[in-house]
Amino acid sequence: MHLPSAAFGSAIWAGGAARARPATPSCEPKEMSDDPTHRASAPPPPPPLPTPLTATRPRAPLAGTAAVPGDKSISHRALMLGALAVGRTEITGLLEGEDVLATAAALRAMGAGIERRNDRRWLVDGVGVGGLAEPDDVLDLGNSGTSARLLLGILATHRLTAFLTGDGSLRRRPMGRVIEPLSRFGAHFLSREGGRLPLAVTGAADPVPIEYRLPVPSAQVKSAVLLAGLNTPGLTSVIEKEPTRDHTERMLGHFGARVAVEATPEGGRRIAIEGQPELTAAPIVVPGDPSSAAFPLVAALIVPGSAVRIENVGLNPSRTGLLLSLREMGADIAFENEREAGGEPVADLRVRAGPLSGTEIPPERAPSMIDEYPILAVAAACARGRTIMRGLAELRVKESDRLAGIAEGLSRCGVKVAVEGDDLIVEGTGAPPPGGALIATRLDHRIAMAFLVLGLAAFDPVRIDDARPIATSFPDFVPLMTRLGASFDAAG
Ligand code: S3P
Repeated sequence: MHLPSAAFGSAIWAGGAARARPATPSCEPKEMSDDPTHRASAPPPPPPLPTPLTATRPRAPLAGTAAVPGDKSISHRALMLGALAVGRTEITGLLEGEDVLATAAALRAMGAGIERRNDRRWLVDGVGVGGLAEPDDVLDLGNSGTSARLLLGILATHRLTAFLTGDGSLRRRPMGRVIEPLSRFGAHFLSREGGRLPLAVTGAADPVPIEYRLPVPSAQVKSAVLLAGLNTPGLTSVIEKEPTRDHTERMLGHFGARVAVEATPEGGRRIAIEGQPELTAAPIVVPGDPSSAAFPLVAALIVPGSAVRIENVGLNPSRTGLLLSLREMGADIAFENEREAGGEPVADLRVRAGPLSGTEIPPERAPSMIDEYPILAVAAACARGRTIMRGLAELRVKESDRLAGIAEGLSRCGVKVAVEGDDLIVEGTGAPPPGGALIATRLDHRIAMAFLVLGLAAFDPVRIDDARPIATSFPDFVPLMTRLGASFDAAG
């Protein structure tokens, strides 16, 4: 296979800035870090008791401008590749949510230097490919599947043993999907039944490259294999039937790895990485997270009279399925100020409330909007007619079983909903849903935020049993939404 020397543009994530930075000289004085987690091996503990929250229809339409936090997927990868590069990587716009802080803490526990400056820049002093050290305690990855699966990929080709665990949600999620391909490199795993956390991984001493055909459309599995291939001599390749988010391969190219991507005849992609490159530290600008933007966006569509502007939203084509689907439903969403930031397409979105109508979302669109189904189902509940969302098997293994959680929550709110096989069918009347329900969030941030948004449009208030999981991906969700005019009340 032909491997172009720079399969991706050199300015990706760097906003066109010089891509290579020299390693930090050891005599350079270090500024004090103000990151409270910088010595811990785990993210700060959440409040000990569940925090219920109620959403009520606001008296006035939502209005104003909001800037959503940094992209979660890109933030994890920026820290990981920064930690494996030679030199100092400067990251701006990093998402400071619990999931990303869990990745930072784990990488620090394995020897990477990671500091947060007062101006919210994050500085990562890398150890080089294959240079991580054995952590002397269990790595607790909290709620974060991305941390667990991508770090397992990295660890699978390091000569060390590490123990991983997570919260009640993460300990239920399947890790077999990464254990299987990573074992083929020569790594050894000891896990709970069904490949669940806690587990131990001993990385391959002499890893062998693999070619892997993804059995499920998962960017996490693809990334785990590519990251294992990073410290494996030879060519590692992954073939995906449906394109999934491509942040790992883009960012690997940005740090100087030789990565080739080609289309397959079936409409998928083959991604190949040449192992054991020297990664060179490179600045990264993280765009706003389209999966977080989805919540104020749908809120603005379904609270009558609203007009909201959402700034700096990442529009990587592998993430835009929700925008396409909402527009098919008749949503008034305009892109303004379209530009490139940090090598990713971004735009400001101008959103106006208006009537929505039901639609059918094909299964092949799922990878480009996999995290957006809870909030799309809320939009569908406010639309007129039937919305059919097909091919949602993967929703069963997210932070919670989202297919069941969406159906149960909507039905409690008086919405007609059905699950048929892997399809979700929501029947809207065009009028606001009744609401007036208590929703079990089951440690799932997106279920929590989606049902709070539903409560802003429903006739009667909607209460969620626990708002704490929101801090994993969108710590400023409540203040940001409140500034737009949302009414949330802890007392209920
Ligand atoms: C992610 C990939 C998706 C997504 C998750 C983040 C990533 O998971 O649901 O929130 O950063 O690679 P899968 O790849 O397992 O579908």
